Amino acid sequence: PVIRREDYVPPAWLIPEVALDFKLGLDATHVTARLSVMRNTAGKGGTTLRLNGDQIAPLAVRVDGHDVNDWRLDGPDLLVELSGERHVVEIETALNPAANSQLMGLYASNGMLCTQCEAEGFRRITFFPDRPDVLSTYTVRMSGNKAEFPILLANGNCMASGPGENGMHWAEWHDPWPKPGYLFALVAGDLVANHATFETMSGRKVDLNIWVRPGDEARTEHAMQSLINSMKWDEKVFGREYDLDLFNIVAVSDFNMGAMENKGLNVFNTRYVLADPETATDADYDAVEGVIGHEYFHNWSGNRVTCRDWFQLSLKEGFTVLRDQMFSADMGSAAVKRIEDVRVLRGAQFSEDSGPLAHPIRPDTYQEISNFYTTTIYNKGAEVIRMMRTMAGEERFRKGTDLYFERHDGEAATCEDFIKAMEDGTGLDLTQFRLWYSQAGTPQVAVELTQQGEQAVLALSQTVPPTPGQPDKQPMPIPLRLALFDRHTGRHGGEKLIVLDKERDTFTFDGFPAPPVLSINRGFSAPVAIQYPRATDDLVFLAAHDDDPFARYEALQQLVVQHLVAAISGTLDERAREAGRAAISQALGSVIEDPALDDLMRGELMILPSEAYLAEQFPVSDPGAVHKERQALKRWLGAHLAEPLKALHDRALAVPYSRDAAARGKRKIKTQALVLIAAGDPAEGGRRAFAQYNAADNMTDRQGALKVLVDLEGPEREQALADFRARYGQNALVVDKWFSLQAGALVPNVLDHIAVLAQRPDFTITNPNRVRALYMTATTNPNAFHHESGAGYRMIGDLIRRLDPINAQTAARFVPALGRWRRVEPGRAGIMREELERIAALPGLSRDVREQVSKSLG
Ligand code: ARG
Ligand code: ZN
Repeated sequence: PVIRREDYVPPAWLIPEVALDFKLGLDATHVTARLSVMRNTAGKGGTTLRLNGDQIAPLAVRVDGHDVNDWRLDGPDLLVELSGERHVVEIETALNPAANSQLMGLYASNGMLCTQCEAEGFRRITFFPDRPDVLSTYTVRMSGNKAEFPILLANGNCMASGPGENGMHWAEWHDPWPKPGYLFALVAGDLVANHATFETMSGRKVDLNIWVRPGDEARTEHAMQSLINSMKWDEKVFGREYDLDLFNIVAVSDFNMGAMENKGLNVFNTRYVLADPETATDADYDAVEGVIGHEYFHNWSGNRVTCRDWFQLSLKEGFTVLRDQMFSADMGSAAVKRIEDVRVLRGAQFSEDSGPLAHPIRPDTYQEISNFYTTTIYNKGAEVIRMMRTMAGEERFRKGTDLYFERHDGEAATCEDFIKAMEDGTGLDLTQFRLWYSQAGTPQVAVELTQQGEQAVLALSQTVPPTPGQPDKQPMPIPLRLALFDRHTGRHGGEKLIVLDKERDTFTFDGFPAPPVLSINRGFSAPVAIQYPRATDDLVFLAAHDDDPFARYEALQQLVVQHLVAAISGTLDERAREAGRAAISQALGSVIEDPALDDLMRGELMILPSEAYLAEQFPVSDPGAVHKERQALKRWLGAHLAEPLKALHDRALAVPYSRDAAARGKRKIKTQALVLIAAGDPAEGGRRAFAQYNAADNMTDRQGALKVLVDLEGPEREQALADFRARYGQNALVVDKWFSLQAGALVPNVLDHIAVLAQRPDFTITNPNRVRALYMTATTNPNAFHHESGAGYRMIGDLIRRLDPINAQTAARFVPALGRWRRVEPGRAGIMREELERIAALPGLSRDVREQVSKSLG
């Protein structure tokens, strides 16, 4: 069944108040829901109240205190006939949380009970109008065995609690802020808290708790500091203050996604809470900070202002991603953060946008909403709002967001509401800009710079490629920050912002007696692909001189991309190969040695474009050829730059651990240097990696060294892997790393290794983190997923079929990798397609997997 955005109708009934009563048990929980229902004057009447359900049955239905018979089931839903304007409807359901392997609704994880209700999990707990535009105030009472569930949490504030009979106890929670069912949460279990307090700008004292399993407390300091920083930052930058006396975060080890912004009770995947230097890398620390910020920022962009329907998902997700990106940029290096964000966008979102699952940031249809928690909705959604910010400027942007929050506080809003508030608050005319919400596909912008007398003439043209259901596109407004460099002085006369809003346009710039060097889409001001084949010299110039850090990175990337694209296409003769390599090693050499660069940025610049991004440059590509040429370049650079790389590695090696930027920078260049050294000289690289592994006083260095060792042959590989496992075998998140490192190894027989790993008792198919560690990593490994035998595709097909009945949401996440088949050379493509067909033929497939597979087969 296809759900359409245009079919939206306001709810027929509202539920101003909800009272829930839970009798908790791991394998038997009894729920009584008491709904005060009220006919919606804005709705289209009717006497039937439709309450959604999913895998639940009503044990009893009462209306105004009486058992009634005039209800029936319509598929999963419960329909109740009501005669008046207001009633109290009571429904009882029974759940088995321990058997809930989908991890949606109420489920058991590690002996505790927790919930995940977004998007449509609340209907797995009780019958309810499970749509985000029905807002209710919740009172939750729960009781359970005190020894089993010493801690009882729900949204809002704890109003009362006390002992019961036979070792039971109870608690009652009340959340004063009306919310949709998807923001409901409950947690019960044996938990301990890291506690702190925060005073808001208006003087409200807020209790902060991060709840974890006993033994994990020591690893919550960074999460707590990140939370406090987020609260302060949202006050300062967006004027948003927290609105309850209590803020709880709970870490659970079985979780489908990253985390969830339930009002006053955020539930997190442990991997975005727990961190200490011994077990978490610098990247893990950043991810904790980013996700803690993200979920906290949802309190305004998501909870106080929520979504009218799920087509508006990017209203809260795109905006909140932008907010968390800005936050992380302010907490650390803004330049590095921008590069990382663009890398994610181009690696994942661009390929989504050019494949069978492409959709606009505000989709028009869906079958299963869980499939739309995508990099397009999240990351492209953030880029679209970022463009408004670029065009409006910081100050006017803030006026726009203030107006949005003020206008829609307490409401379920739409993307259109956001755009309108932006127009009214900033003064921008966003009429044409709305196309960014309705059109899918990554705009391609062709660039040409010519010289007319003393004028530089910039000719730009755009095409937005066709995507499923959208064969013809209109030109969109594309804001491009640019600068024109004098190639002799190395300077430019100030950055300009132009907006390309036609199919083609020219822009002229006076005062250039000699042709300047163009730096365009600086800071990645628009999420587009720039097509500008350019002279190697210009790229080398920008890689050395551009004062926009992103543009500098981009010039270096482009230099490598142009070279590798030619090499992969086989259009490179020996002379051109030599010249290309020389230019790249010159540019990389100056990056290694430039004293003006900080090490974090240096490390960033040393990362070569990913195979996924390189493959994106071709309509159809051979993953084997992409891998081979990228490896060849790495080997050559490693050998050619061996001396400066070794000097860099030596310089960084002995710096003691600290969380400050300088020490982090050293750790970053340490492993980047190691990667290249090992490519050029495996023996030397292996020695250095083993030494780095053994000397490491932190996970960043240790994992970095092991990542290099696993690609090499020799006893050090097995020795280090065994040591890693023995050292951290008790820590599930590090065991995930251990699985992941092996699944990502560039060894010829990696598929056999993965098969062996999958047979281990500690490979638990029910735990999404473990499944992703082994198999999601495998999909990014050219020797595994793209193995020419096709065995990698079969392995992922088998996984999807096996996982689907257990956890459909997680299973569906593996389909897009196979869905790229049209972009892969015919031999492999045939096998990928076959796997999709084998999945499609399976009876009883989940809606999640069915939608992704049928769209992929197209
Ligand atoms: N709203 C959450 C976040 O982005 C994501 C939850 C989605 N969960 C799901 N099961 N689809 O922070
Ligand atoms: Zn979110």
